[in-house]
Amino acid sequence: MVSVEAFRVEVLGALIGGVRLQMLTLVGNGWHPWLFREESKSLMGEIEVLHPRVVNIPLQENTHSRISRAALIDDVLENPASLTITEDVTSSQIGEAISEWSAEFMEPGTFAVRSRSIGIGIDGVSSKDIEKEAGARISSINNIVDLGDPEIEISVVIAGRTEGEAHPDPLVEANPIAVWGIRNPDWERENYSGRSPTDRPFFKPVSLEPRQARLLISLGYRPGREIREVVDPFCGTGGIVIEAALQGLGVLASDLDSRMVNGTRENLDWVGADYRVEKCNASEIGSTWGRRSDCVFAFDPPYGRSSWKSEDGLDLFLSALSSAREVDPEGVISTMLPTGPEVLSQNPEEEFIVMGKKWSELEELIAQRGWRVVLKSPIKVHRSLARMVIVCHPSD
Ligand SMILES: C[S@@+](CC[C@H](N)C(=O)[O-])C[C@H]1O[C@@H](n2cnc3c(N)ncnc32)[C@H](O)[C@@H]1O
Repeated sequence: MVSVEAFRVEVLGALIGGVRLQMLTLVGNGWHPWLFREESKSLMGEIEVLHPRVVNIPLQENTHSRISRAALIDDVLENPASLTITEDVTSSQIGEAISEWSAEFMEPGTFAVRSRSIGIGIDGVSSKDIEKEAGARISSINNIVDLGDPEIEISVVIAGRTEGEAHPDPLVEANPIAVWGIRNPDWERENYSGRSPTDRPFFKPVSLEPRQARLLISLGYRPGREIREVVDPFCGTGGIVIEAALQGLGVLASDLDSRMVNGTRENLDWVGADYRVEKCNASEIGSTWGRRSDCVFAFDPPYGRSSWKSEDGLDLFLSALSSAREVDPEGVISTMLPTGPEVLSQNPEEEFIVMGKKWSELEELIAQRGWRVVLKSPIKVHRSLARMVIVCHPSD
């Protein structure tokens, strides 16, 4: 532990048998902090929450390959440290704390300190001043400042209180903190440019955005369980399976509409993927794919005009759940269901309507098909539509 007069800096990592268990700090995207934390949990197991958008995870053998699957991680900090920002903490004290920490953790090499703020700004704390103060203190014959192409990048995040976010978050209390660490040079935030649904050869307005598609897949992980195949029984234009293929996962996609089947094939050829795409009713994926293992069933079922003729969307969803269990009884369901915008302001424990049904009734129907709901979290689509992200594990 590095301690600086007037406040304490937590060097993150538990001491086990005299060896410090290495930790990583993950900084989440502001679009949906709640789902950022849920995604981190699905991928990495237990997390320690420092702030709605900042979590710690233990560094294990497969950590880097797991976090490379994430949709909502913005930054990964190595050898991290953190400091709670109370009223009397100044930029210059944070700079001093970073310089004390650097004495223990920095290798020789050129460096830059880059600081950014998230959440509400904090009086008396400025990213520019922290960069200047820490840079001046750390600079030495072994560590020369190079702002253009540094060998070591110290990344600092000043995380203020969150307020007025687009999505509700059960974690309301968020004390401001500063976190910093060495930026992992191999980490690149997922770049979706050129991957929007309208860039693909086959596009329809039902196409899911790549970030949400990727999120549905990553929410399908569980600690100690790998995913080998992504099954989408309502594949539409292939938004979800394209993201699966780009990660090297197997693709089993189907749709009842042959135009969608052909369009998904066209889109998967465009990304150069191996795949199996079939025309079939979602209630029949059991016989189409047979028994398999290590699957996530990731899909957004039809609603409104995209539902097939007069078939009821709810019955169709429930029959897809039953046939998913036939395919992989150990699998995970990761889906988003239509709901009203009131869920964005409502207490998540209150009764709300999803797919035209009261949530408690729908949860019971899901349970009757052998699935246990482990996550429900709303996403805003537009003023009059929201979707509830639902993740289910097998109930036995
Ligand atoms: C909301 S869209 C899925 C969009 C898709 N995620 C994408 O990125 O393009 C729902 C799809 O379900 C299909 N569908 C409707 N009824 C079906 C059924 N009974 N079985 C299988 N697919 C069905 C529709 O043809 C439509 O393509």
